[in-house]
Amino acid sequence: MTERVEPSQPDLADLTIGVLGGTGEQGRGLARRWARAGLRVRVGSRQAQRAVAIAHDVAAGLPDADVAGDVNASVAAVSDVVVVAVPYDGHAALLATLVEELRGTVVVDVVNPLGFDKQGAFALAVPEGSAAGQAQSLLPGSSVVGAFHHVSAVHLLDDALAEVDTDVLVVGDDRAATDLVQRLADAIPGMRGVYAGRLRNAGQLEALTANLISVNRRYKVHAGVRLTDV
Ligand SMILES: NC(=O)c1ccc[n+]([C@@H]2O[C@H](COP(=O)([O-])OP(=O)(O)OC[C@H]3O[C@@H](n4cnc5c(N)ncnc54)[C@H](OP(=O)(O)O)[C@@H]3O)[C@@H](O)[C@H]2O)c1
Repeated sequence: MTERVEPSQPDLADLTIGVLGGTGEQGRGLARRWARAGLRVRVGSRQAQRAVAIAHDVAAGLPDADVAGDVNASVAAVSDVVVVAVPYDGHAALLATLVEELRGTVVVDVVNPLGFDKQGAFALAVPEGSAAGQAQSLLPGSSVVGAFHHVSAVHLLDDALAEVDTDVLVVGDDRAATDLVQRLADAIPGMRGVYAGRLRNAGQLEALTANLISVNRRYKVHAGVRLTDV
């Protein structure tokens, strides 16, 4: 049987990874882990000054780090891969302003549309089926991938943790893009990127976070996900 040859993938070290909302816990945590892995990272914010300050924190103690901060639109324009790490209620409005900047870019949506009430967290209904689906409909010229929904920001930001022990379920419709995002997960020690289906299946992953939050509250932990037999 002839072995299938996958299209060649870029060297991660040649890529610029932008993080929109990179000043928040999740974006900052991912940025920090990728900076520690020697990758080039750009931190995005609605305010340039805030982005620059957080970029400084992300690079702390890493003399060779290539980390800078700027407003979200500038970060989107210069990055090869762009992570969207803003709250769901600001998600659609932000992406609608970045259609051109994100054209041709792999967009990694980590957003969990969740509500909270007395019973804890619950999944919100999203007209497009998921936040990632919403991103894809707003950004027809981009390849949207859903990933990192279940990764604890507390663990990402804990420098004492050498490894972040978790699988990252990756969904998307573009094989090259999901392969790339799996490799971005693999670049963080302890993490493993696992392909988990097409973008239409992103909603279940986003919703599962509500269950993980319930686990966290009951057991006082920062639970992640590990698949067996893969
Ligand atoms: N925290 C976690 O453990 C975790 C885990 C997995 C996934 N997530 C997902 O990751 C996303 C970010 O989570 P987070 O905890 O980092 O959130 P966050 O701290 O509340 O927000 C992240 C950043 O988003 C920007 N932002 C806030 N409101 C905005 C709006 N209306 N429009 C545009 N930008 C806005 C802010 O940056 P500026 O003010 O600097 O612009 C903020 O620092 C969420 O969608 C969450 O569901 C979080």
